[in-house]
Amino acid sequence: MESVGYQIYPKSFLDTNNDGIGDLNGIYKKLPYLKELGINLIWICPFYDSPMDDNGYDVRNFFEVSKDFGTIDDFKRVVKRAKELNIRIILDFVLNHTSDEHPWFIESRTSKTNDKRDYYIWEKGKIKDGIEYPPTNWGSFFGGSAWQKDEQTNMYYMKIFSNKMPDLNWANPTVRKEMINVGKWWLELGIDGFRIDAVSHLDRAPFEDSKLGEGIVLDWHKFSNLPKVHTYLKELNKELFSKYDALTIGEVGGEAPIESALNYSAFDQDELSMVFNFDHNWCNNLHEINDYKDLKTDVLRLKQVFNKWQVAFKDKGWLPLNWLNHDQPRLMSHYGNMKYFNESAKMLATALYLMRGTPFIYQGEEIGMTNYPFTKFSEYRDVSTINQYHNLVNMTEEEKMWHSKKTSRDNPRTPIQWDSSKYAGFSNVKPWINVNPNYVDINVESNLKDKDSIWYHYKKVIDLRLNSIYRETIIYGGYNQIDLNNDKVYIYERKDNNNCLLIINSFAEESIDYNLSNYKIKKVILSNYKDSIINNNNIKLRPFESIVLEVIKNE
Ligand code: GLC
Ligand code: CA
Repeated sequence: MESVGYQIYPKSFLDTNNDGIGDLNGIYKKLPYLKELGINLIWICPFYDSPMDDNGYDVRNFFEVSKDFGTIDDFKRVVKRAKELNIRIILDFVLNHTSDEHPWFIESRTSKTNDKRDYYIWEKGKIKDGIEYPPTNWGSFFGGSAWQKDEQTNMYYMKIFSNKMPDLNWANPTVRKEMINVGKWWLELGIDGFRIDAVSHLDRAPFEDSKLGEGIVLDWHKFSNLPKVHTYLKELNKELFSKYDALTIGEVGGEAPIESALNYSAFDQDELSMVFNFDHNWCNNLHEINDYKDLKTDVLRLKQVFNKWQVAFKDKGWLPLNWLNHDQPRLMSHYGNMKYFNESAKMLATALYLMRGTPFIYQGEEIGMTNYPFTKFSEYRDVSTINQYHNLVNMTEEEKMWHSKKTSRDNPRTPIQWDSSKYAGFSNVKPWINVNPNYVDINVESNLKDKDSIWYHYKKVIDLRLNSIYRETIIYGGYNQIDLNNDKVYIYERKDNNNCLLIINSFAEESIDYNLSNYKIKKVILSNYKDSIINNNNIKLRPFESIVLEVIKNE
């Protein structure tokens, strides 16, 4: 609860041995940088041994570090140093699937009677009019069928992500034991918990066709948020998490409704500490437009989503607060404004990270990194972008490019822009994925030189949250959104017996006169402009102005 987190995608963070790939020593080297920013928790994405079909989410050996990222001793050094700096570490726990190169799968596929057969989900194909089809018409998240035919035994295995990521069979108690051992091993090494990957998918509906459409259909309901997930999580909690007092944050996709999210993470559920949801991630018209210039944030929807989650979790549970992760567009290219770049970047930080919950800043967000300007298919690296590109039909090359680039998971995965030297100080050699050409202007070094930068604003927000006299109010106080129907300004109170704060954020490109008749303004605590224009109870909000006030509410 009293944490501010930072997510690291190791492959893109910092390369120290000049092979073009970020590594654990890169994380080690930058721990003081993160400390300086003020965070006290990091989530590190997978660095386990892997053939890297999905950059490490396809694990070949859960107990080994991939040679791309370093060695287990490198990781132990990271843990030790982080402890000295009072930074807690959580790792990605990938438990829905393994790599097809994992020894369990290599064995499992050899015969129907192999003792690892039931570690995975095997089904016969369906024959219709003499033609064989996969067992169901379910689609996978990365495009194509959720089933892959395996010639060795002439059966299909389930894989809701890539072909190289067969799904584990959680109905098998031995699988659950094995995975508990994996978790134990890492917790024993001294880590503090997990971000639990794809956790909502561990239970599947009966294998019957989805009626949602013709052909292959991505019907999340067939493998998301089904009842037995909770049975498995209660077991994991009892046998693993609770024994280590581990912090656990589940990734619940599949459009988890509030009730379901509460089932995972309410204080009295004994499952997870919190869950990431995605409701606030697509509150704009991105899917409908053909040019970034038409992009528009749906401020009302965003406000409603925030309100819905904050209200539902009041007293009942705790929420993570994040704008994006390694699967989503960069914040500035999504909700930011290019004309008022610094103002909007700072406003977005204030707007989100002073709500009730635990902030998670995604690497590079603290300097306002943007989407990559993809122009060629060959620039993509992400398995999901590539598969889906090939599946796009009835589109010109140009349309396909636009469709892919605006949502591609490669956007947040370009190297961190540390300075303005070649390859942005990420590496001395050409990195595994291109550096965004705007590194000359947007980089850590220039942010650190300018006290007025986005980076310093992030630091101020974190400082206000963790170290100021308002700390208790911001961490534990109530949340109350006001003026819900205003489509330009997002305002909320944070309040306890000692303080009442108003967090006011303009999403508008023009100036707005705002009247705060119900409050007496005591003090301006934080702003993204150099000064404030306040006359009695009237505030002039300039474009994307964001201001935090200490107030007294007229009851
Ligand atoms: C999660 C991860 C994503 C990964 C997938 C499969 O959604 O965030 O990056 O591809 O799980 O492990
Ligand atoms: Ca490296």
